[in-house]
Amino acid sequence: MATKENKYPENVEGKYYVDDECIACDACVLAAPDNFSMDEDDGHAFVTTQPRSEDEEDLCREAMEACPVEAIGNDGES
Ligand code: F3S
Repeated sequence: MATKENKYPENVEGKYYVDDECIACDACVLAAPDNFSMDEDDGHAFVTTQPRSEDEEDLCREAMEACPVEAIGNDGES
């Protein structure tokens, strides 16, 4: 379960975030490329843009569900 305390500083401010459990599997970036991106140097994903529409919200939710290690949080919930 993702926790706010462990979220990466690269995450843009807002409800979705990636925490330090990320194993860089890329699923979130593939599911929601407008909202998630990979920090190739550091080997983890982060949120670049919070969802701006219902469609993006759906994709972010899909990304969260697709993450195999539950490293994506939504306002502190897993
Ligand atoms: Fe990392 Fe999960 Fe995305 S492992 S790359 S946060 S799908």
